[in-house]
Amino acid sequence: MRYGHFDDERREYVITRPDTPLPWINYLGSEDYIALLSNTGGGYSFVRDARLRRLIRYRYNNAPLDVGGRFLYLRDDTSGDYWNPGWQPTQRDLDEYACRHGLGYTVIGGTRGGIRTETTYLVPPGQTIEAWRVSVTNERQEAAHISLFGAVEFCLWDAQDDATNFQRNLSIGEVLVEDDVIYHLTEYRERRDHFAWFACSVPVSGFDTSREAFLGPYRGWERPLAVDHGTMSGSIAHGWQPVGALQAELRLGPGQSREVVFVLGYTENPPDAKFDPPASGHPDTARARAVLESYRQDGRVERDLASLREAWEERLGVFQVATGDLHVDRMVNTWNPYQCMVTFNLSRSASMFESGIGRGMGFRDSNQDLLGFVHLVPQRARERILDIAATQLPDGGAYHQYQPLTKRGNDDIGGGFNDDPLWLVLAVAAYAKETGDLAILDVPVPWDNAEGSESPLRDHLRRCISFTLDRLGPHGLPLIGRADWNDCLNLNVFSERPGDSFQTAPNRPGGVAESVFIAALFVLAAREAAALARLRDDEAEAVRCEDAAASMTAAIEAHAWDGAWYRRAYDYFGRPVGSTENDEGQIFIEPQGLMAMAGVGLEDDRARTALASVRAHLATAHGIMLHQPAFTSYHLELGEISSYPPGYKENGGVFCHTNPWIMIGEAITGDAEGALDYYLRINPSAREAISEVHRCEPYVYAQMIAGRDAASHGEAKNSWLTGTAAWNMVAIGQWILGIRPEHHGLRVEPVIPAGWAGFSATRRFRGTAYEIEVRRRGDGHPGAVAGTARPGAVQLVVDGRPIEGTVIPLPEPGTSLVRVEVWLP
Ligand code: GLC
Ligand code: GLC
Repeated sequence: MRYGHFDDERREYVITRPDTPLPWINYLGSEDYIALLSNTGGGYSFVRDARLRRLIRYRYNNAPLDVGGRFLYLRDDTSGDYWNPGWQPTQRDLDEYACRHGLGYTVIGGTRGGIRTETTYLVPPGQTIEAWRVSVTNERQEAAHISLFGAVEFCLWDAQDDATNFQRNLSIGEVLVEDDVIYHLTEYRERRDHFAWFACSVPVSGFDTSREAFLGPYRGWERPLAVDHGTMSGSIAHGWQPVGALQAELRLGPGQSREVVFVLGYTENPPDAKFDPPASGHPDTARARAVLESYRQDGRVERDLASLREAWEERLGVFQVATGDLHVDRMVNTWNPYQCMVTFNLSRSASMFESGIGRGMGFRDSNQDLLGFVHLVPQRARERILDIAATQLPDGGAYHQYQPLTKRGNDDIGGGFNDDPLWLVLAVAAYAKETGDLAILDVPVPWDNAEGSESPLRDHLRRCISFTLDRLGPHGLPLIGRADWNDCLNLNVFSERPGDSFQTAPNRPGGVAESVFIAALFVLAAREAAALARLRDDEAEAVRCEDAAASMTAAIEAHAWDGAWYRRAYDYFGRPVGSTENDEGQIFIEPQGLMAMAGVGLEDDRARTALASVRAHLATAHGIMLHQPAFTSYHLELGEISSYPPGYKENGGVFCHTNPWIMIGEAITGDAEGALDYYLRINPSAREAISEVHRCEPYVYAQMIAGRDAASHGEAKNSWLTGTAAWNMVAIGQWILGIRPEHHGLRVEPVIPAGWAGFSATRRFRGTAYEIEVRRRGDGHPGAVAGTARPGAVQLVVDGRPIEGTVIPLPEPGTSLVRVEVWLP
């Protein structure tokens, strides 16, 4: 069952009924100002940091889920009927409803009783505001007297404090109303240099700033008194819950339309220009007023929309494909890169599942997010790499998370997730391959943000590698620490009491648990580090990394093979995890694909055997599960993984992030059919038709789909903020379609199913546009196309000349276009 459809032409998803199984959201803004907006107009906004600079409230885990933040009401002043054009929160029936989520904007249309409303929500590029352009049309035969209400509930900045510290913050709220603008001034005394404001483009007939006055005692947002009665009280909030609520009266003749733009803004003032007049306590509102003024002009929102569209077309133009497979094209061309932008911006901080107060930017997460994003805006990827590296600890380790506003490591969670540093190597390698910018390796970067401690980025990479080598266990495999990629595999923690953290409770002393996953990741990272070192003529470092990769490979071969797949780990007591020796958790997905990616097991065919075991034991129609059998009871020595009910999250769920590793493994070992088959099992567009099962948005990946052991097998959760976005972009773009940046040029080495005649693609790479046509000479057959394991089956003709191998050499500087024909068997 569907709740809407894709409009591929406009790059929009059109939701045609408001009661989607879960709020289906969009993200507006991809710079400082971010707004989450659901298909019914709900959600919340913040500037730079979802916890520390929250503008409007969202009530976590509420019923219904999607209440809070921003509201629009219409009232027929003749009949007294009122409703929301986005359905929530009054839920009064709409005669027509459609929500179009586009790239950086959303349009929600709703009609009731002959009054049609269409609201365009967007965050204009370069601004710290959100604009809602509401166009109201009277489709009746007679004149209509309509009141339009816009409202926001301000958050008192620190979202965590706002939701918990009521003894203080029910007394701190302050507002100012001047010239129809509502300023939210809480803490704009000495501590804050910023305030929020809410206004609209037409003269208002009333306002409220006290939530209680606007809603009325014992009423909620579904029945506000002011809307019910059609009059505002002009309340001024002193403490309690400040809101911004405005009423505009529209007198519309038959067929007539009016446009009203509401603006929720954020303004920062320099310290010496906080008050006007100076030291008066009255905020300097000049900056805010100047911005607002431009939104009172006709056409401003239209121009913003046009520049948003242009920016996205330009960005997406870096990589476009025409494969003939609707689900591939739609995701690769539009939605997957779009989601990659969101995960790049937000890591795991703020979604309908991530509260924005907990997780900040993850070290491993952000490095992986970059892999799917770097081609879109390399300059921002560069800045991100330097920010992340600056949080690295002097021993090469990493804070698990950092706060986006301060860019400092989070002490509460600390470090000790022993895979973390290795992801930085992959991120830098991906950036260098995309851009050719090796100078980044020389940029001085501090350790733990300590001024004066700077050393070149290449030293940071060196210590990433050393960090693993300094922490090897009894089998010569890397010690796992608190956990590795699987945050819930807590082999040293032994969390026994309710409320103890699975990750940060003290490790049991002497922990020698080892991770086979980190071993594979290490080999992959050490090879990348070696290549980077060699490019900088640092032969000694290159050899050190290669030797280390070789010894790690030997340790894997000696101690990590279980007979038909790679083991997952050794626990605190030195017993295998992910082995036929175990009763549950006999086979885990994580190492199986990563080994092939690291080039391990390709020669002796272990990689292929491991992938066959994945297919036999872990694959379901809804994607590949994390492990089997799922744990049916809690294991102190395994940790959080066994705390989830079977089939959910890390306990045997389809943890989508890992699926692309298997797709890549399949491509590397030459199984084109297998790779694409897995790709389509979790592709959101391909799952659109079962939206009543999947339940999350059909245009973005979710972190998890419930596994076979779960009662709700096939149900997705935790949409949007997941490493799945970046890794699927890599899997489909670089390995299945095979268009892959290398240090010395663009590689084109597709591994596509026999049923595909070919495909075409355009890829901008280091300033040159590559037009790529992939064709077959014969009829193709499974396994006959080239992966790394089977070179030679792909023939490239570049600007009319056949070349050796599959890497297109870099053209003369200034070359704008290169035409590539790719011939497959
Ligand atoms: C979450 C975390 C990520 C981790 C994964 C598996 O998505 O953000 O860092 O790798 O779970 O536990
Ligand atoms: C929790 C989640 C897990 C996630 C981790 C990140 O443990 O259950 O899935 O990876 O937090 O810190």
